[in-house]
Amino acid sequence: MKLAERAQRIEPFHAMDITRRAADMIARGERVVTLSVGEPDFGAPPLVREAMREAMDGRPLAYTPAMGSPALRRDIADFYRARHGVEVDPARIVVTSGASAALVLVIAATTDVGDEVIMADPSYPCNRQLVESVGGRAVTLATTPASRFQLDRDLVAGAWTERTTSVMIATPSNPTGTSLPFGELDAVCSLARERGAWRIVDEIYLYLSDPPVDGRPPRSVLEVDPDAIVINSFSKYFGMTGWRLGWAILPEGLVGPVERLAMNYFLCASAPAQIAARAAFHPDSLALCEDRRLELVARRRIVLEGLARIGLPVGVDPDGAFYAYFDVTGTGLDAGTFCERALVSAHVSLTPGRDFGPATADTHVRLSYASSREDLAEGLARLERFVAAGCPAGDDD
Ligand SMILES: Cc1ncc(COP(=O)(O)O)c(C=O)c1O
Repeated sequence: MKLAERAQRIEPFHAMDITRRAADMIARGERVVTLSVGEPDFGAPPLVREAMREAMDGRPLAYTPAMGSPALRRDIADFYRARHGVEVDPARIVVTSGASAALVLVIAATTDVGDEVIMADPSYPCNRQLVESVGGRAVTLATTPASRFQLDRDLVAGAWTERTTSVMIATPSNPTGTSLPFGELDAVCSLARERGAWRIVDEIYLYLSDPPVDGRPPRSVLEVDPDAIVINSFSKYFGMTGWRLGWAILPEGLVGPVERLAMNYFLCASAPAQIAARAAFHPDSLALCEDRRLELVARRRIVLEGLARIGLPVGVDPDGAFYAYFDVTGTGLDAGTFCERALVSAHVSLTPGRDFGPATADTHVRLSYASSREDLAEGLARLERFVAAGCPAGDDD
């Protein structure tokens, strides 16, 4: 039987592969510190868990409309009004199985065979795979610490061709935890808008970024580009990774196409998760999530100090999310070998740069500091001994 070409071509998400290996080692009784997975250890806010228990009270929990529960979409629109001062018609919001399904829908709705989608290198690996799986071309532009590992207007303008249909940005970014300065985001979006291209802005880590100096909440692209496509999720800020719930905000013209795709691909996102997620916007839940953000800032400090002590440079300090992206060239190893040895020999799981694009594939490693302070301290101590010993190969290497 014939396997589809796209299935043969698709690459694994190495972070998930390495985390599965770490889990296997833990199951065998080995003490592994898992710093490879982008998943906060806090769990959903208590009010959300309570709402989930109530949702399980015998209700039929039928399908919701394909675009999502009207009540949750209203709550999301209210949240944008309160946080960003922008009016979003709930009809433009689609609730999805995580940001992942939002990305699938948006890319399917906007990308034809041969279309070019510009994105930063390094950036979130699934974006490249999703674009290529619909026959599009992921145009990955090498970035450096000088541009905070983000796109800028000149870089985007230089890569533009008549096949360019979208620019994808995640701010803050995975794997670097660095934001695109808001003025530059505006400039990149203006350029794409002037040239008739979609702006797909992933704000999944936006509420986990440091507030600007004026003390206002971090700004959404919708404040300057109301027709940008915004991707977001309950996974990270609300600590609800396994609940599989996210959303996209669509420009008017995409609502009908995305609704038809959503009906065919998914029918709808999980009904109980949608009911419970409404409690995420309760002021008590939001206050708790803000405390958790501050805890992540404290963890970031521990990690940056630890990496500096070990001699593993972070080219540009993260200002959000929960990732530090450090350079391992000083160890004499490529990033893949460094991660392999760190797992086998030091029992610390990390994600090699090759997940995030060719530019830093061999040179950089992502550490997720979404784990507890104790785990971070232990993981850093192990890495310090490992590097001081010359990064020895472990038994299985
Ligand atoms: C930038 C970015 N976008 C989207 C996702 C997908 O998140 P989810 O499907 O859990 O909402 C992730 C997950 O790590 C991510 O880092």
